[in-house]
Amino acid sequence: MPIDTCIFDAYGTLFDVTAAARQAAAEPDFAALADTWPKVAADWRDKQLQYTWLRAVTGAHADFWQVTGEGLDWALDASGLSGDAALRERLMQLYWELSAYPEVPAMLQRLKDVGVATGILSNGSPEMLQGAVSSAGIGRLLDHVLSVESVGVFKPDAKVYDLVGRAFGCEAGNVLFVSSNGWDAAAATGYGFTTAWVNRMGLPLDRLPWQPAHVMDDLTGIPDLAGSL
Ligand code: LAC
Repeated sequence: MPIDTCIFDAYGTLFDVTAAARQAAAEPDFAALADTWPKVAADWRDKQLQYTWLRAVTGAHADFWQVTGEGLDWALDASGLSGDAALRERLMQLYWELSAYPEVPAMLQRLKDVGVATGILSNGSPEMLQGAVSSAGIGRLLDHVLSVESVGVFKPDAKVYDLVGRAFGCEAGNVLFVSSNGWDAAAATGYGFTTAWVNRMGLPLDRLPWQPAHVMDDLTGIPDLAGSL
């Protein structure tokens, strides 16, 4: 089916989630992160996602800003940095204004040029998504920024993927859903979207009942892929 709508996951897909710890590690006040920042960034991301899944299956929803802070608390604790309140505050501030991957603006512009509708579908709270979208300067290239907060449960609950059809008035079969999270791309395939997994880190395929339809190294090829389907 032809693609008329292209939907992106936010964190890790459009926005570089490792940028916060990398940037803080380069600041004189946070030399404690100089060697440990890759572990802090990885632990932070892993715990943040685990907590979303656990909250979803137990019905204990809290917004992604809270969950992101709780994931960070675990990650700092695991690296012996949990007493550093200034570091925690700085990392959360940097997470609010994450940079987009370099190819993002031109890639979105190419989709807009050929009349494909574009949007974000994310676990992020509306406020934090707005913060990241505006600091990356990509707001004018997105038709909708959709947050799980309107359904009160995290991905990959189907109620989240339902938000796309509701906002865009499109059929699932006309949607290309793009995520750097293998589990998100897989679940979106199960939902009925055509999917692309952006596998920047060369990770193995997730062993789940569904698989992403396409795998790419970065986002550059998304407009060509959308035009070829
Ligand atoms: C998001 C997370 C899963 O943006 O990266 O939804």
